[in-house]
Amino acid sequence: MSVMIKNVGIVGAGQMGCGIAHVCSLAGYKVTLYDLSKERIEASLATINGNMARQVTNGKMGDDERKTALSYITGSTDVQDLASMDLVIEAATEDENVKRKIFGQICPVLKPEALLATNTSSLSITRLAAATDRPEQFMGIHFMNPVPVMKLVELVRGIATGEKTFETAKDFVRSLDKTITVAEDFPAFIVNRILLPMINEAIYTLYEGVGSVEAIDTAMKLGANHPMGPLQLADFIGLDTCLSIMQVLHDGLADSKYRPCPLLVKYVEAGWLGRKSGRGFYDYRGEVPVPTR
Ligand code: CAA
Repeated sequence: MSVMIKNVGIVGAGQMGCGIAHVCSLAGYKVTLYDLSKERIEASLATINGNMARQVTNGKMGDDERKTALSYITGSTDVQDLASMDLVIEAATEDENVKRKIFGQICPVLKPEALLATNTSSLSITRLAAATDRPEQFMGIHFMNPVPVMKLVELVRGIATGEKTFETAKDFVRSLDKTITVAEDFPAFIVNRILLPMINEAIYTLYEGVGSVEAIDTAMKLGANHPMGPLQLADFIGLDTCLSIMQVLHDGLADSKYRPCPLLVKYVEAGWLGRKSGRGFYDYRGEVPVPTR
């Protein structure tokens, strides 16, 4: 028996929040996309429109569908606008303190029966749930980037997550035409437990001089049929997110094999975060991406 979800609040208008709003609005949910920054919300609404327009061009949807979906999305910088939401998905930066602060701010506003989820890619659901006023109604609903294209969503229950919450989350994700995998609440769940050590290993391969940026990405694209090379993918995910996930694995599993590559640390310290900052393993500021080393 699951709870009826009619509207969805999304906290954080970054690349993941954008993508989640995109798929929820197309599935017919009214969406409130909340962020502290009005500019970020405006930029996100433009990105969503652009991504949907591309799908219209590619014949994946009609323009009326795009217009209707966009009309379902409302941007907001007022946390009170989350008060009527049936489900709120936190999709802020991969920083536990930031997430806990957000839960502290929004929980008092949410209706008692509202479900609260986090799109965290690695952090403990059980621990995050304990920072809310509703651990039984708290879930990990982990989307993959880019959300409109990636079919998978990982569902992760905290130790206190109720059965009704889990059933509702499953029905909700299925309504988005996504495929579910259920992961236990251990560091980085399934996808990132496997993917990020591979990306970290690619960065070590660069750091130790085994191959160039181009050689490493070409090797994995053509040698393993990956759609993106691991360094290109790291830039796409965000190097700060990659580093956070490696630190969660290293701290959570206490195994040195998860130590983040020093070169990854250096890039993040330099503010070279990948696509979102214009530079990472590639420089995106020109016509075509150019390796930065
Ligand atoms: N946002 C939205 N849609 C996008 C997009 C983006 N950033 N980039 C591409 N697309 C869409 C295009 O619109 C196109 O859609 P349609 O077919 O509906 O028109 C489709 O994706 C294919 O796009 P392209 O042909 O331009 O490019 P491509 O064939 O190279 O595919 C890609 C792009 C889908 C991103 C592909 O390179 C890919 O799958 N890369 C791997 C992505 C991946 O591994 N993601 C998981 C990362 S791990 C994660 O996300 C978890 C975490 O917590 C960090």
